[in-house]
Amino acid sequence: MIYRMAVQTEKLRERPTGDIILETKEIVKRFGGVIALAGVSVKIPRKWIVLLIGPNGSGKTTLVNVITGFLKPEEGKVIYEGKDITGIEPHIITKMGIVRTFQIPKPFINLTVLENLLAAYPPGPHENPYKAASKKSWINTEKKAVERAFDILKTLGMERIWNQKASELSGAELKLLEAGRALMSGAKLIIMDEPAAGVNPTKAHEIFSVIRRLREERGITFLIIEHRIDIAAQYVDYAYALHLGRLISQGSPQKVLNDKAVIESYIGS
Ligand SMILES: Nc1ncnc2c1ncn2[C@@H]1O[C@H](COP(=O)(O)OP(=O)(O)O)[C@@H](O)[C@H]1O
Ligand SMILES: [Mg+2]
Repeated sequence: MIYRMAVQTEKLRERPTGDIILETKEIVKRFGGVIALAGVSVKIPRKWIVLLIGPNGSGKTTLVNVITGFLKPEEGKVIYEGKDITGIEPHIITKMGIVRTFQIPKPFINLTVLENLLAAYPPGPHENPYKAASKKSWINTEKKAVERAFDILKTLGMERIWNQKASELSGAELKLLEAGRALMSGAKLIIMDEPAAGVNPTKAHEIFSVIRRLREERGITFLIIEHRIDIAAQYVDYAYALHLGRLISQGSPQKVLNDKAVIESYIGS
C-alpha cells in the first residue's frame, strides 16, 4: 500500500500539476545580441520544491530576475497566483509573497538571531504615526512578531540559539536565517540561489531537510538554483534544466539528472 502510494506520488510528479502558484509563459530576454532566454515556460505547483539547473550562462539567474521583477522580458508573461505580474516593480512582487533570499538585506551581524527575524517583519502599526499613540496596538504587534519568530525558529531547528549574534553563526545557519527572514516577511514562494554552496555535504543535507520541513509545516513553495545537484535531487519534487536559454529537460530529478541532453550540456560547457 505504502509502495503504491509512493509510485502514485512519483507519477503525479512527472508533470507539474494541480494548483500552480507561478508560471512563466514563453519568456524571451535578450542582452544586446545575446539571447539569454529563448521562450522559457515553467510551471511551479504550490508546495512543491522545484530545482532549476543548467551550466554557467544557461539563463538561470536571468529567469529568476524576470520572475522577481528585476528584469523586464521582451516577450512572454509571468503569472503569479493567477495574476499577470510581468514588469511589476520588485518590491511590490516581494510584498505579494515572492521572496528571493539574497534579495532581502543581509543579516545584521551585530544583531541576534531573534532580532534579525524581527527586523524582517512587515512594518507594524507602531510605524504608523497615527496609530503609534496607542501603546496597546504596538505591544500586540510586537508580541505577535516575537511569537511568529519563535515559531519559525522551531521549524528551522534554531530556537536554542535565538540569542546568538549572527556574527557567530556557521555558514549553514546563516542560510537558514535567510530563509527565516524570508518567512518573517510573509513569503509564499521562496527562491534560493545555491543554498548549499560553500557548506560541507552534511550541512547541505541539513539545509535541504529544513527546506522540506518548511514546505511540510508551513506550505511554502521553493524554487532552488543549486549546483550540488546530486544532493539537491534527493529532496526536490521536480526539476527543470536550462541550456543556452532553452529548457532541455524537465521531470523528476532522477529523470532530468540522467537525461543525455543534460549530461552533454554540462560536458560541453
Ligand atoms: N546584464 C547582462 N548583460 C549582458 N549579458 C548578460 C547579462 N546577464 C546575463 N547575461 C548573459 O545571458 C546569458 C545567461 O546568463 P545567466 O542568466 O547569468 O546564466 P546562469 O545564471 O545560468 O549562469 C549569458 O550568456 C550571460 O552572459
Ligand atoms: Mg547565475
